[in-house]
Amino acid sequence: MTAKLINGKEIARKKRIQVANEVKKLKEMNVTPGLAVILVGDNQASRTYVRNKQKACHETGMHSELIEYEDTITEQELIKKITELNEDPSIHGILVQLPLPKHINEIKMIEAISPEKDVDGFHPINIGRMMTGQDTLLPCTPYGVLEMIAEIDIDITGKHAVIVGRSNIVGKPAGQLLLNKNATVTYCHSKTKDLKAYTKQADILIAAVGKANLITSDHIKEGAVVIDVGMNRNEEGKLCGDVAFDEVKEKASYITPVPGGVGPMTITMLLFNTLKAAKNTLNKE
Ligand code: GUN
Repeated sequence: MTAKLINGKEIARKKRIQVANEVKKLKEMNVTPGLAVILVGDNQASRTYVRNKQKACHETGMHSELIEYEDTITEQELIKKITELNEDPSIHGILVQLPLPKHINEIKMIEAISPEKDVDGFHPINIGRMMTGQDTLLPCTPYGVLEMIAEIDIDITGKHAVIVGRSNIVGKPAGQLLLNKNATVTYCHSKTKDLKAYTKQADILIAAVGKANLITSDHIKEGAVVIDVGMNRNEEGKLCGDVAFDEVKEKASYITPVPGGVGPMTITMLLFNTLKAAKNTLNKE
């Protein structure tokens, strides 16, 4: 079997058109969805991510603000700014780009964001709502993964989903969202013994560890759906995922490429969340 490609870039393109149309409708009602991004320090990767997030906002007609600070900023100053943004009616989404400098407690900053404006879906209130299956702002990468699975002809109910990686922003919520869709979920991680024994049982395999080519064809059951969340550089400096794509594609039924897979979906779901947060303010009035 040669797997069909789940083309994240194309799915993201279509979804962004949908967002742009909805933004237009909201603007006719005098609401322009607005995103504020806080960037601390000069981490180059963060700077690139933030630039792409802003570009995507502008392309869909949203308002976006970049608030930049030197890495000498204090927790108090940052909390003051977040509080201001919480109260600013032109801002519907607030995102503090991670990682933050060591002297700033990331959890404290996330908890300072109003849950209604937490478009990353990282606030414990939103995580709790997600766990209890309520409608809420979902973390963008796992949300994007679910949207990609929704594009293919597969019923998640009763399927065995194996998640490799247990980060708070990808692995853990990805498992929870699949559980909410009635999958049977297994979490694997760096301490798991005999990883293959689990991954070989997966109908749906989510690789989110950050280790190039960790998942090879002997980890895969014939016909599995393989979603690669990894973003690594190989020895030649080329972008690659956690999955050895060329060999795994011969065994899987569906596979996501890197680049052009999950990556473009993450920012798209951030746009959806910002739109949702803006719409929610209308419902409140
Ligand atoms: N750093 C890496 N990924 C993310 C993300 O999704 N959101 C934020 N805020 N920071 C990140």
